Amino acid sequence: MSTSPKTAVVTGISSGIGLALAHKLLAEGYHVIGTTRTGTVEGPANENLQIVSLDVTSDASIELAVGRIAALAPGGVDLLVNNAGAAPDVFAVAPDRAAFAQTLDTNVTGTVFLTEPLLPHLNEGGQVIFISSNMGLPRNAAPNGPGYRLSKAAVNMYAAMLAKRLAERHIRVTPMHPGWVQTKLGGDQAPLTPEQAADGLYQGIVTNTESGQFWDATVGAVAAF
Ligand SMILES: NC(=O)c1ccc[n+]([C@@H]2O[C@H](COP(=O)([O-])OP(=O)(O)OC[C@H]3O[C@@H](n4cnc5c(N)ncnc54)[C@H](OP(=O)(O)O)[C@@H]3O)[C@@H](O)[C@H]2O)c1
Repeated sequence: MSTSPKTAVVTGISSGIGLALAHKLLAEGYHVIGTTRTGTVEGPANENLQIVSLDVTSDASIELAVGRIAALAPGGVDLLVNNAGAAPDVFAVAPDRAAFAQTLDTNVTGTVFLTEPLLPHLNEGGQVIFISSNMGLPRNAAPNGPGYRLSKAAVNMYAAMLAKRLAERHIRVTPMHPGWVQTKLGGDQAPLTPEQAADGLYQGIVTNTESGQFWDATVGAVAAF
């Protein structure tokens, strides 16, 4: 008996963690719908990878992207990975209004208002993953990154709320910390490659059964909020 491949939507696959996770999911047999702001991605074409143009700060872009995702995934979406994110104030201490607004618009408002119209397209038994950060946990409070830390704290709360809403549909919702990763956002001093981070995140996708809990992919376990 053949089973059709699972469909994953991964936002922000132009680089970094999103790109590595898209490739990991392809290697694991998923049909992947990845989003980028340009509507293209570098690298060889893959028949199981489709690219949708998306800027999460634009309502018009979200509407077009959701329509396209629905058309590309007539059997529904099994895994939504909200990965797209920005961190312009991660080294700053004093909040800067423009950086703060960009961070919250992208990481919180964009993430929430992309996720909401995709909820009807999620399959029963599916999963929603948020690439969050342990920088958004109050126990890790530090002076730097005001917009970024607040944005990830908000994402963690939204994930916990969504887990309650989607429990009836048996959809698991998990905010995940990928570790400190060598990307445009994480810089080149980080200890993990995007591929190592993607492997850790994938283990969490496969093994975590606790919806609404914070998952630390660096240790492969649920961590306290
Ligand atoms: N690197 C780390 O150490 C680390 C640690 C914890 C959590 N994270 C989280 O991991 C996620 C991925 O980051 P990364 O480290 O892989 O950095 P990255 O290489 O800079 O990737 C960020 C991705 O988000 C996309 N993006 C930014 N603004 C967007 C918008 N308005 N609409 C749609 N897409 C947008 C970027 O697209 P463009 O190419 O068009 O800008 C890019 O594809 C983020 O949520 C980040 O907060 C990273």
